[in-house]
Amino acid sequence: MGARVTAPAVRNRKVAQGSDPLVMVTAYDAPGARMVDEAGADLILVGDSLAMVVLGYDDTLQVTVDDMAHHTAAVARTNPAALVVADLPWMSYHVSAEDTVRNAARLMRAGAGAVKLEGGAKRVPMVEAIVDAEIPVMGHLGLTPQSVHAVGGFKVQGKTADAAQRLVDDAMALVDAGVFSIVLEAVPDVVARRVTEAVPVPTIGIGAGRHCDGQVLVLHDVLGLEDRIRPKFVRRYATLKADGVEALQAFCADVRTGAFPSEDETYHAPAALAEELAPAAAEDDDVVVGLYGGATMSV
Ligand code: KIV
Repeated sequence: MGARVTAPAVRNRKVAQGSDPLVMVTAYDAPGARMVDEAGADLILVGDSLAMVVLGYDDTLQVTVDDMAHHTAAVARTNPAALVVADLPWMSYHVSAEDTVRNAARLMRAGAGAVKLEGGAKRVPMVEAIVDAEIPVMGHLGLTPQSVHAVGGFKVQGKTADAAQRLVDDAMALVDAGVFSIVLEAVPDVVARRVTEAVPVPTIGIGAGRHCDGQVLVLHDVLGLEDRIRPKFVRRYATLKADGVEALQAFCADVRTGAFPSEDETYHAPAALAEELAPAAAEDDDVVVGLYGGATMSV
């Protein structure tokens, strides 16, 4: 594991000041987190996209603080070098500042190093309350999926001069409230550039073009683990869904033809017992190396 990435270190990563672009990828469990961390990403986002990507819901509104804490803990247990950012889910920061801080603290106690919330100027009191509790906050502007019903769908934002200016104003309000970086989702590249130039903290884009200080994508999109919908901004680097189906078809076929399990994949009893129970069976040791998912255990 390399040196741990911290929120203050991320705050200084402006490309215009000579930094490399930040890389953030989502993860929702331990194997995903290990992949993202070993690949060298700077940040792991335990996004509320959990709802759609992993739990099968149609939007992100269905996940709770309990769900987010459960998955954040799974990611954090892998002890990644990358900074773990956990999404505050819908209604966890909309009721009161006290409620908001308590919910943010739950995600921090689950192992996050920072939290993310959606929205601009109207979220300032909540951002200030969380920052006041010594918890780093990441903002999220543009397409904010928790607003899907309010804005009438998952739509590109900032498409007029007024809307673009509102995004800049919202970004500045979040910065003044203390965020250490801002996700910009689904906005035209010129708008993302304007916001990026206006704020002293890094912007991390998703569907926001190349002029941000970093990029974020959903793990299942990058790996092709999810292949039903492919937004314009997704680049797939693998086809794990198709590869997985092919592998499972081979497993089904091997079971049905009797090719699995082989003698090498079978535990054998000590000779005396083997002879008593099944004279043809051979001796074997009794150490299980690699149980479910590669965990090791002796019996
Ligand atoms: O929940 C999520 O995955 C996100 C990213 C799309 C930025 O918020």
